[in-house]
Amino acid sequence: MAALSHRLLVDVHTHVYLPRYLSFLRARSAVPRVFTRTTPDGASVERLLILDAEPSGGRPMGPQYWDRALKLDFMKRHGIDISVVRLLRPACVPSSRLTLVAPRSSANPWLDFLSAPAAHELAHQLNDDLETYCSTSPALAGGPLKQLYGFGLLPLVPEVTTASLLDTVHQISALPHLKGVIMGSRGLGNGLDDDALEPVWAALEHAGLVVFLHPHYGVDGKEWGGKDNGHVLPLALGFPFETTIAVTRLILAGVLDRHPGLRVLLAHSGGALPQLSARLASCIAHDPVVAARLQHDARFYLGRLYFDGVAYGAEELAFVGDVVGRADTFAGSSASAAASRGAGLGQRRRGSRRMLFGTDHPFFPPLGETERWKSVVENLEAIEGVHGWDEADKDGVRGGNALALFGLSK
Ligand code: URA
Ligand code: ZN
Repeated sequence: MAALSHRLLVDVHTHVYLPRYLSFLRARSAVPRVFTRTTPDGASVERLLILDAEPSGGRPMGPQYWDRALKLDFMKRHGIDISVVRLLRPACVPSSRLTLVAPRSSANPWLDFLSAPAAHELAHQLNDDLETYCSTSPALAGGPLKQLYGFGLLPLVPEVTTASLLDTVHQISALPHLKGVIMGSRGLGNGLDDDALEPVWAALEHAGLVVFLHPHYGVDGKEWGGKDNGHVLPLALGFPFETTIAVTRLILAGVLDRHPGLRVLLAHSGGALPQLSARLASCIAHDPVVAARLQHDARFYLGRLYFDGVAYGAEELAFVGDVVGRADTFAGSSASAAASRGAGLGQRRRGSRRMLFGTDHPFFPPLGETERWKSVVENLEAIEGVHGWDEADKDGVRGGNALALFGLSK
């Protein structure tokens, strides 16, 4: 595995709006929707309007959101493809032979706005579409692996039956290019600590499917005040806070205790969870309702989770590595913080094994014409710049950890 993985750059956080899903959004007049606007010079441009409290003009949407050829071109332009790597390889990627395996997921808000029967039907269709999208992708020159893999969709909407959910888990696990499911924070409408999700966690654990937890709703839009700050506050803060709350509720409900084999990958490096995990542990320890509920100190569970590397900064990645790498010292419910001290850079290196490169493509395109996207280059440079990670650690974050997580090999 090591010999192969050092050549790989794996993007675990990349989205696609499949044509069938787009036609749904184009046909809608309420959020979420895609609409066409005519510019002053008479051109028609499409806009994506999907977030609650989003500025009403939404965001510009072009073919990079659905066109596979453009996605492949994007990969190549970022040094992710072997034949182009040699020309355009980002300076921070040391390997001279890179290729890409990209788990990709349908984009938010998934099926959240549909009735249960409609969500079931569309989930199955989109999962089949995504399998076709991945399996029929032209091979990138020289790539030793199939380049495209996906996260499927479950009909996670209120009033869906358990049978429908389990049937869809079964469908996904039978599709060879789908390696997990993408999931929002709402579950069946009551969040991820809903007891009704118990059979779903069990089925996903049993099937070995990775859960990619991704935000969509942010937090209450009233928090953003009246100033026009574009999309900055909901995307920079609302998204990560939403993930933080969702995964904390999952932990507090004991899901990770009951399902030790369940693998959950957190978007945007877990939001604020790494920064807040010691406070969470302290609040639990001081709360008579929760104190005895969990098998372990809250900090332990960070070592059970996976974190994408979409954090844009080396110090931020280093910090996530530090708190993830110390998790094992908090096994049990009365662990002491002192036990984790002095582990030093070994701890940071250990944490790196649960971190995986991602881009968030096609979101965050550069504002002006440029060959390479700042959002991608920054995330690569961040990995390169983490103090204390050696080349093996960095190669793991760039690709090797993803091979292991998704069970991919030559
Ligand atoms: N904006 C979105 O709506 N989704 C993402 O994943 C990133 C930015
Ligand atoms: Zn995303």
